[in-house]
Amino acid sequence: MTLQIEISGQACGARVTGLDLAGELTPQLVQEIRRAWLGHKVLAFPGQRLDDDALERFTIAMGGFGEDPFFAPIEGRKNIAAILREENETSPLFAENWHSDWSFLARPPAGTCLLAIDIPPTGGDTLFANQAAAFAALPDDRKDQLRQLTAIHSAKLAYAPEGTYGEKDAGRSMAIRPDPSARNTFLHPLVKPHPETGEECLFSTLGYIVGIEGMEVTEAFALLSDLAEWQSRDEFVYRHRWEPEMLVMWDNRAVLHKATGGYEGHRRELHRTTIAAWAG
Ligand code: SIN
Repeated sequence: MTLQIEISGQACGARVTGLDLAGELTPQLVQEIRRAWLGHKVLAFPGQRLDDDALERFTIAMGGFGEDPFFAPIEGRKNIAAILREENETSPLFAENWHSDWSFLARPPAGTCLLAIDIPPTGGDTLFANQAAAFAALPDDRKDQLRQLTAIHSAKLAYAPEGTYGEKDAGRSMAIRPDPSARNTFLHPLVKPHPETGEECLFSTLGYIVGIEGMEVTEAFALLSDLAEWQSRDEFVYRHRWEPEMLVMWDNRAVLHKATGGYEGHRRELHRTTIAAWAG
């Protein structure tokens, strides 16, 4: 099987054809996909007829399942969640802020897979921001400053009972399960060398970062806000347009992502797994 890789021409992302992900995932194929994934950070596989079994097989082949707090899985599965918005839903969009999935965990997932189930005719693109490029483009003195900083990550703003998806979040079709454990914090360097490529990447952003270790709150917030604008500049962004029968996988260690709207009156559903942290 020869993979055809069409580069997006944007800050990251590539479209991969010439393979059938419902078929055998040989070690050689897995290696080729992983190599392309590390290089392009976001891979889209169009024209794949995959069911939930095939999504699970693919995720296992790419590194195994990651931990997924705060979502109830879909019925009959332990590791698949539905990213779902019904056509008449009026609750605020899910995941409309830049983030890296579950960055507040001790071992955040290396990647995420999303399988198109029900794709609206317009809108609902996912944006990705290349954080190796964002870091590389900074002036040297700023890089040195950021390399010294440790970020305090927490899910509290989103998933604590008082958070965005907590008790006041009514009418949402997604099975989100807020919990007091979302108030826990975990430290990660603000600049993390990618464990597989060695590239230095800005790791996560406001939303899941609630402070900087040893820095006064207002100063930390000003720094993080300023940095968040830099991290999502147009030149670092890839806009992904969904198609039916498409699987996408991205590298949480190297990109931020966010959902977008623009599909009012239409249903949107994707099945999601996370790929476990790389064991080395
Ligand atoms: C996500 O952040 O996992 C969801 C992205 C999307 O709905 O486009």
